[in-house]
Amino acid sequence: MPRILVVGGTGLAGRAITAEAVARGHDVVVASRRVPDDDSPAFVPGADYRTVDIVIGDGLEEALEGVDVLVDASNGVGRASSHVFASGSQNLLHTAARFGVHRAVLLSIVNVDLSAYPYYRAKALQERSYQESPLETRIVRTTQFHDFVGGLLRRGSRLGFVPAPTGISFQPIAVSDVADALVDAAEGSGTADSTRTIGGPEVLTARELAEQWKSATGARRPIIGIRMPGPLGAAWRAGENLVPEGAIDGLGFADWLTLPAV
Ligand SMILES: NC(=O)c1ccc[n+]([C@@H]2O[C@H](COP(=O)([O-])OP(=O)(O)OC[C@H]3O[C@@H](n4cnc5c(N)ncnc54)[C@H](OP(=O)(O)O)[C@@H]3O)[C@@H](O)[C@H]2O)c1
Repeated sequence: MPRILVVGGTGLAGRAITAEAVARGHDVVVASRRVPDDDSPAFVPGADYRTVDIVIGDGLEEALEGVDVLVDASNGVGRASSHVFASGSQNLLHTAARFGVHRAVLLSIVNVDLSAYPYYRAKALQERSYQESPLETRIVRTTQFHDFVGGLLRRGSRLGFVPAPTGISFQPIAVSDVADALVDAAEGSGTADSTRTIGGPEVLTARELAEQWKSATGARRPIIGIRMPGPLGAAWRAGENLVPEGAIDGLGFADWLTLPAV
């Protein structure tokens, strides 16, 4: 079984990827700046945790020792996103090439290259680093995670109403389904140097998702339509976050809402 390094393997998607790779019997190393305690929800028994900062490069060489495949599920918030996606990815890919890593798999976002939203622009540059890398690469682009849509509704409802952006639909996907696709790619499924695009099983309007969320959580606040500003709102109104042709037969939003951790 190949040795897999999951960069950002303590994050939301990364820990699901780590759990899936361990469950399939791989030798898994996780790289992140903080190593989780073994009673943390981010800790996956059977994985080997290393303290690594891909932006600065600390710990990277040690973590890449003996690695065959890397899976990149790192992320950055605000200005950190451009550091992680630009210099972080470059450091990671150059060091991986020096250490003889064979394959690199990147978790990305559908149509990320179409929007002027700064986070998406940084992410599109990250994709380009992978495409130009001498390693065999696979990019898996996915729609928004259920957790992301649920988080928007939960945070928005603190304003006194449940916000439903008008003219916008989502096709949310479970991170467990994302993890399946990433580990398939890590194992070499699909074509070398290709991009696979996947989305959740159904496209629903923001209002339909808000209704499902209200009925699952018991929230009583009214659903109010809002106009989402900026380039992200424009991209979503144009349907750039949807890939009906890439819908997988996975866990839908309503079923995800019934899971205990939600
Ligand atoms: N959210 C969505 O709906 C969605 C949809 C499609 C694709 N994606 C993509 O999926 C990826 C993962 O997203 P997520 O929400 O799962 O991320 P997340 O929960 O924010 O986790 C980010 C991970 O990256 C690590 N990290 C951050 N900076 C680092 C650094 N300098 N060096 C090493 N590790 C670092 C974090 O650990 P430390 O902080 O301890 O370093 C953590 O393990 C992102 O690239 C995102 O664009 C997200």
